[in-house]
Amino acid sequence: MPIDRRQFVAGSIAAAGLSAFPSLLSAAIKPAKKKLNILFLGGTGFLGPHTVQYAIDRGHKVTLFNRGRTNKDMFPELEKIVGDRDPKKGKGLSGLKGRQWDAVIDTSGYVPRIVGASSALLSDNAKQYLFVSTICTYDNWAEGGNFRDEKSPRAKLEDPTTEDVSQHYCALKGYCEMAADKAMPGRVTHIRPGLIVGPRDKTDRFTYWPVRFSKGGEILAPGKPKDLTQFIDVRDLAQFMVHTIEQNLTGEYNLVRPSMPFGDLVESCMKVAPEGTKVTWVPNDFMQKNDVQPWRDVFMWADSESAGAGALTWSSEKAIKNGLTFRPVDDTVKATVEWFQSLPEKRQTKLRAGMSMEKELKVLNAWREHNKNKS
Ligand SMILES: NC(=O)c1ccc[n+]([C@@H]2O[C@H](COP(=O)([O-])OP(=O)(O)OC[C@H]3O[C@@H](n4cnc5c(N)ncnc54)[C@H](OP(=O)(O)O)[C@@H]3O)[C@@H](O)[C@H]2O)c1
Repeated sequence: MPIDRRQFVAGSIAAAGLSAFPSLLSAAIKPAKKKLNILFLGGTGFLGPHTVQYAIDRGHKVTLFNRGRTNKDMFPELEKIVGDRDPKKGKGLSGLKGRQWDAVIDTSGYVPRIVGASSALLSDNAKQYLFVSTICTYDNWAEGGNFRDEKSPRAKLEDPTTEDVSQHYCALKGYCEMAADKAMPGRVTHIRPGLIVGPRDKTDRFTYWPVRFSKGGEILAPGKPKDLTQFIDVRDLAQFMVHTIEQNLTGEYNLVRPSMPFGDLVESCMKVAPEGTKVTWVPNDFMQKNDVQPWRDVFMWADSESAGAGALTWSSEKAIKNGLTFRPVDDTVKATVEWFQSLPEKRQTKLRAGMSMEKELKVLNAWREHNKNKS
């Protein structure tokens, strides 16, 4: 079916993610006292655009360095340097030589050799290097949260020369941190986010919940309302990152919302649900028996008695003391649904994470039968 111009324009805006930037429409953000010259290594995927937009809104001068492949038409007003982070590929980092920046924001580093190359090349030409790492870089991350802080040790690799990111993503981030520290000692900010959620998140791990609630009906909620969840709104993260540059904060920062009961997230999601929506809590052991697994069928949740619950209980006290703030979860839920509903229809037909409605219904029916037989 041919699409009309209005549909095309709406679709393009959604695809470019422009609807994810309400700050474009409001003048609520105050400009920074000192204008900085910031280089982004990346900038056009998920976290990048939110951070770039917030930096622009604060009045900073932004340059993007990337391969010009991902959302290449985004931010047409900015200077773009085309190259590859891997010095072995294409023009490599040559476009960055001889330029000066106040700070570098690296959202796209996964391999220590590559992060080492950019931080070494920029060490004389940039004052500060912000590297986006991950909360899972800690040794024993999934079991070990228990409200621990940045002093926890990093995971170690048997072979530190590996570049197998799919196998060793978490540990490699820690080695990237070390590579940046080696090149710019005392001038690196290590940002360690938990699950990043909100508009433009293409994984749908969090998005599943607000979108599922927006459809209404009977909804399967996992485990118990007091089981914990933990995440960070991409917009809160973006603001803190720019804040660390403005305040020249260096060192390690865990970036997560304080853990909250899953039941609170459900309450926020109910606010985007149509009237008559019903929530049914299904215990973990029943879900397991019915082939519903955490991190395969159910995201953002862990049974509080399971070993994996530690993944959702890290501390971000240090970042909070240094200026991290959180918008209400209601806002995250609402913005996520609005963003998702602005995407092309085809993208909306199937969520990329969470249970299918068929599977959910099957488990809910089985739970109903189980309870009937008990009574
Ligand atoms: N999602 C989560 O829950 C989560 C949790 C913890 C930590 N993190 C971390 O958060 C960061 C989020 O990344 P993002 O993808 O949203 O960042 P982004 O900066 O928005 O997007 C990735 C950028 O990197 C560029 N890029 C990719 N490969 C490149 C290369 N070889 N050379 C030059 N540029 C390259 C891409 O452009 P081109 O393709 O045009 O080059 C794109 O601009 C990641 O570091 C991730 O590990 C994520």
